[in-house]
Order: sequence, then C-alpha cells, then structure tokens
Amino acid sequence: MAHTDQNEVLFERARAVIPGGVNSPVRAFRAVGGTPRFVKRAQGAYFWDAADKRYIDYIGSWGPMILGHGHPAVVEAVQRAVIDGFSFGAPTEREIELAEAILALVPSMEMVRLVSSGTEAAMSALRLARGATGRKYIIKFEGCYHGHADALLVKAGSGLATFGNPTSAGVPPEVVQHTLVLEYNNIAQLEEAFALHGHEIACLVIEAIAGNMNFVRASAEFAKRCRELCTQNGALLVFDEVMTGFRVGARGAQGVLGITPDLTVLGKVIGGGMPLAAFGGPRAIMEQLAPLGPVYQAGTLSGNPVATACGLATLKEVSKPGFYDALSKKTRALVDGLKAAAAAEGVPFCADSEGGMFGFFLLDALPQNYTAVMKSDGTKFNTLFHGLLDRGVYIAPALYEAGFVSAAHSDEDIAATIDAARQIFATL
Ligand SMILES: Cc1ncc(COP(=O)(O)O)c(C=O)c1O
Repeated sequence: MAHTDQNEVLFERARAVIPGGVNSPVRAFRAVGGTPRFVKRAQGAYFWDAADKRYIDYIGSWGPMILGHGHPAVVEAVQRAVIDGFSFGAPTEREIELAEAILALVPSMEMVRLVSSGTEAAMSALRLARGATGRKYIIKFEGCYHGHADALLVKAGSGLATFGNPTSAGVPPEVVQHTLVLEYNNIAQLEEAFALHGHEIACLVIEAIAGNMNFVRASAEFAKRCRELCTQNGALLVFDEVMTGFRVGARGAQGVLGITPDLTVLGKVIGGGMPLAAFGGPRAIMEQLAPLGPVYQAGTLSGNPVATACGLATLKEVSKPGFYDALSKKTRALVDGLKAAAAAEGVPFCADSEGGMFGFFLLDALPQNYTAVMKSDGTKFNTLFHGLLDRGVYIAPALYEAGFVSAAHSDEDIAATIDAARQIFATL
C-alpha cells in the first residue's frame, strides 16, 4: 500500500539504503514504535517534518542547539566562514579563538584539543589518561554514555574483581577487560573498587549530571568521593561534559557541583550544531599529546573552520550576562508545570532540571542510578511520547534520554507543552 504520509515515504526509502533508515540508532523510534519524523527545516524552538507539521523541539539535536535553530548571529558567522573555505588541514586563527574562549569559561582546563565528535573526544581523553598515568584500568558507571569507543561499550561483570562484558557485538571481551563498571551514586562500591584496584586505575570517567539515563545527578557526596579517591590513588578524574558543558551552566556540571576534574570532555554546545568536540585539562597532562608527547591523537577535520565559527558564535551568545538564569527559569517552569499537571491527574511523576537540561520519570521519586531509572513505566511513557508528538511536541523517543530547552523557547511554547501533557496525563 502506498504511504500517504511523507515521513513514512522517506522512512521506507531510507531503510532501503541506510541500516534501520537512520544514521544513529535512537532516531529510529525503536523504543516507542511508529515512524521517525524526517526534518525539513528548523527555526527557533521549532522544526517542521516532511509533512510540514510543526513541532516544539525539546531535543535540539540532542543538546547542541542551546540558542534554538538558526540563530541569526550564528548563521551569519557560518556563512562568512564558508566563503573563506571549508577545510584546510592547516591551523587557523579561529581555532585559537575557540580554544581561548573555552579555557576562559572552564577554569579547570589550561589547554584543549579540538576534535570532531564526543566519541572521539572521550576516547582520546581516556588514551591520554592511560598514557599520562602509565596505567591500564578505567572506571565508568552504569547508565553513563561516553560515545561508542570499544572499551566503553561495556556492562558490569559479575563482581568488582571481574571487570566488564561487551554490550555490542564486534567488541572482543579482551578490549573491555580493563574497564570496571560501577553503580552510579554507590559510594561503598566505589570505595571497594579503589581498595581493590586503586594503584592500577588510570582514570574514572563520569557524567556528573548524567543525561544518558534520562537525568540523574551525582550526589554531592558521591562526586566529592570520586575526586578524593582519584587524588589519593593517583588516578585522573575525567568529567564527560559532552552533554552538560555550557548546557547546565557556563561551567558545566563541574561548576554546579564545585568539583575540579583533571580532564574535561566537551562536545555538542561548543559546536553549536556542527561536528565539533574537545578535551582538555592541565598543561602538564595535555602536553603528553602528539606532537609534543608520546600519546598519539589526530584528525583530518579537527578544528574545522566552519565548525569553529559556529561554535565561537554560539559561545559568544551563551556568555552574555544572565543567559543561564533566563534559560534555567524557562526549564524550571516547564518541569514545574509538568509536575503540577501530572499531580492534578494523579499520575506518578517526578522531574528535575539544571540550566537548559531536564528529565522526567513516571515514578514517585527521582532515581539515583540506572536500575532505578529503568523502573519508569515504559508503556505510559510511550503513550505520553506519542500523545505529545500528535500535539506537535517533540521529546526524546526513549525514556532514558534527557530533554533540552533552548533560549528560543517562549513562555507560550512551554505553556502549550504543559497543556498537551495535561491532556495525556488525564488518559493514563
Ligand atoms: C555524555 C556524552 N559523551 C559522549 C557522547 C558521544 O558524543 P557524539 O555523539 O558526538 O560522538 C555523548 C553523546 O550523546 C554524550 O552524551
């Protein structure tokens, strides 16, 4: 039967030539069912799909679009940069400007290396941590995502002594045998891991406000203990701020928690929607990188002139006084409104936000780790997701993803979203 909806037409075409019809799995709507929306264009807080239907966008390209789509200053900077050339494979002044802008905003970083994706940045930061410490082992936490480098596609083994098991085909068990996976916010387990393996651990990598198991904060005590144990054991503390960097505040999760990591991984907002990411830290560690030091790292498109122009223009806007206060207020209004609407309809619901990032759960209390997140009601979430989609509100198509509000979202957009959610809560 011929499809009448343009999104379905495109999905069928896409599936014939692209695995699953998408270039990144979560876009395929597998968790919620239905047809992915193919985006035709976007402006401000909205995008329009292939059938010309408008959506209020709470994904914002999974975080980068903090100013909303098509911000005039960013568009102008990109247009100017394109005229001067797309890529040179030789250094440019704009790379220095972006590096200077990032370092000025994130005091824990003295030097930064620009790359093209969060995966690449996290993978490179881990290689650097191993190279700088001369150690093999890394600690990560269940529910945190740091891109798809082989050593990070891993789930917990049967005990603290056993290290992890691969979560993807194509990753040999040997590749993850140095990755220890722990439960988020579990101080006792963290202490035990360091007691057992402390002298062999190169680094502990964490999303200190996790956005890949919806939205879960590291408790202040847990984050502090991560810092202390790394320091005491000579391991590096790596904050993966690909999602939280310039999103939860000007200084990311490290600013919110008041913790200074050794290495920071950035992405998303620093590229303003272009492929750009970075990792950085103290000079003595960063100078271990090639061409100065023995840790190899490179990229044909690293520091791309168009991407750096986009990132710089974006950082200039978010650095304006009051930017994060206004964004936080908006996000909190959304979260508070959703909570009130759910309470009015007797639906178990809890939510949290920081800066322009939020999460909600169909649970009575905010979860502290991945196991608790996955107790959220998947069937009800799917009803909520599709109900919102029908009403022109686009949230992440999976219950373990965070949401994003941009500076372009208006009070009316937020009110319309709460109203749409209230209608669906009434049916749950
Ligand atoms: C915290 C975190 N780290 C790393 C990555 C990987 O970034 P990318 O998708 O740009 O490779 C992501 C992507 O969502 C992320 O959220």
